[in-house]
Amino acid sequence: MDLTFADIKAARTVLADHLPPTPMWSYPLIDRRVKANVLVKHENTQPVGAFKVRGGLNLLAGMAGEKLVTYSTGNHAQSLAYASRVFGADCTVVMPAGTPQVKADLVESWGATAVRTGPSLEAAETYAREFAAMTGARLISPGDTPELLAGVGTLYVEILEARPDLDAIVVPVGSGTGAAAACLVAEELAPNCRVIAVQAEASPAAHDSWRAGTLLKRPNRTTAAGLATGRGYELPQRLMAGRLADFLLVTDEQIAEARRVLATAAHTQAEGAGAAALAAVLAHPDHFAGRSVAVVCTGANTEE
Ligand SMILES: Cc1ncc(COP(=O)(O)O)c(C=O)c1O
Repeated sequence: MDLTFADIKAARTVLADHLPPTPMWSYPLIDRRVKANVLVKHENTQPVGAFKVRGGLNLLAGMAGEKLVTYSTGNHAQSLAYASRVFGADCTVVMPAGTPQVKADLVESWGATAVRTGPSLEAAETYAREFAAMTGARLISPGDTPELLAGVGTLYVEILEARPDLDAIVVPVGSGTGAAAACLVAEELAPNCRVIAVQAEASPAAHDSWRAGTLLKRPNRTTAAGLATGRGYELPQRLMAGRLADFLLVTDEQIAEARRVLATAAHTQAEGAGAAALAAVLAHPDHFAGRSVAVVCTGANTEE
């Protein structure tokens, strides 16, 4: 199934009853450092601490009373758990055995069931598939479910309605749902605005898949959980192909520095993935000097 801008507009109507728009501010110390106008979109202020909740609410709005299962290490899990509580669905999340207890606790705090098993996210996915086959629960892919992309796309509508003059939006990528949706929104609302994706050098599967034009598997070693995927996902890659302006890589050290800048200059707690967009701007000031650019602070769920 394909996704269009109309699906994102429809998601906006669904979400209007559940989430206020998030703030977007610029900060003089950041602007001075990169010699650009940088707007930080604060998705870290969402009720689960991350932008993913937009996708979960949009998906679950059509699934009241249903049983679902998914696999995740963090924010996608919390998103579906939160939305399942709002819409009264029965949600099970399979997480790798090594997932910190606090992430399982957060999922269960919204009334969902967290199952921690297996050595990796791939193993959790296999278990979730078996669980779906055994119980009849609907298996939700974190990357290839159109309703999730439509939901997260609403944040880019907010950005570009407020600032249609932007030169660029920088989006952190794990599976690519946010970046793919951003491409569709920019195409419709601000065709001159470049959508630039960012992934961690230590987990480059989405980046390498986009550059190669084919789905690839790659080592997955970043400590930024939201960016940690070992494979390209079909739906986001198909939408990003030919639409994304560029795809940058940042090191985990550059992400750590961007987290410090957000904490001090923008008074903002960001997890690694939430700081990756700013990390890319700090690491490539020549790409952005003199321009207006939005960086999405996608999440705040740290384990510290
Ligand atoms: C905070 C945060 N930022 C960015 C991402 C990447 O999003 P996507 O998988 O849609 O590319 C995630 C994914 O879980 C995340 O949790």
